[in-house]
Amino acid sequence: MRPAEVHEALLSRRSIRAYRPEPLPLPLVLEILQAASSAPSNSNTQPWRVHLLTGAPIQSLGSALEEAFIRGKHPASAHFPDTLPDEFAARQSDFAGRYYGALGIAREDSAARARQTLKNFTFFGAPVGLIFTIDRRLHHHSWLDLGLFIQSVMLAAKARGIDTCPQVSFSRFHEVIAAELRLSADEETACGMSMGYGDLCAAVNRMEMPRRRVDEFTRIVGYEPS
Ligand SMILES: Cc1cc2nc3c(=O)[nH]c(=O)nc-3n(C[C@H](O)[C@H](O)[C@H](O)COP(=O)(O)O)c2cc1C
Repeated sequence: MRPAEVHEALLSRRSIRAYRPEPLPLPLVLEILQAASSAPSNSNTQPWRVHLLTGAPIQSLGSALEEAFIRGKHPASAHFPDTLPDEFAARQSDFAGRYYGALGIAREDSAARARQTLKNFTFFGAPVGLIFTIDRRLHHHSWLDLGLFIQSVMLAAKARGIDTCPQVSFSRFHEVIAAELRLSADEETACGMSMGYGDLCAAVNRMEMPRRRVDEFTRIVGYEPS
């Protein structure tokens, strides 16, 4: 294995939110998903399930979600607790500043923000949309497996020059998605993902998202101080 290539895939992956229209051939998407399925999982249970959409089904799901969003008949977002601890709230606010700043949307312009949120539901114009579901009878530890799989999908795509954006926005519209995609009763919508070739001219695709330094999130135990 060439570590430089893994490193390159890790560092060059970004969430891409504007796409060129070129389609992705089905065998290529299947190759990415197959490669990602080498992700580890507890007792090799492989709890992921993927709904792979392109073309008219993306438009039809997008329209149903848009309508649900506009009607406001969906459960409130439960992605984060009502009170986000200060440390995370600060990073979330920094993210929002960069995101809406890149789009030229003022923080207080809630209509423009809502229009941008809606773009999630047509996968930001990507030719391929993925909906990841997990069996609702599993415990939250199995969601770790799903997360590892999802990151593996993004890296396997990036290694092939293909961009992605993971999207939790889909999860609160489970009922709409379940009806549109005829999900089984045991499936819960965990996440979506846009996939395609990013429009690298779009300012929204050129945001820098800073990361903490390793010493800010690592407590070192047992190593001699250098
Ligand atoms: C589980 C998960 C859910 C996310 N959901 C969304 C989403 O619904 N919409 C969106 O535009 N970005 C979403 N993102 C992208 C994050 O905003 C992004 O990963 C973060 O700001 C870091 O930027 P980067 O991915 O470009 O490095 C999500 C990321 C993760 C890991």
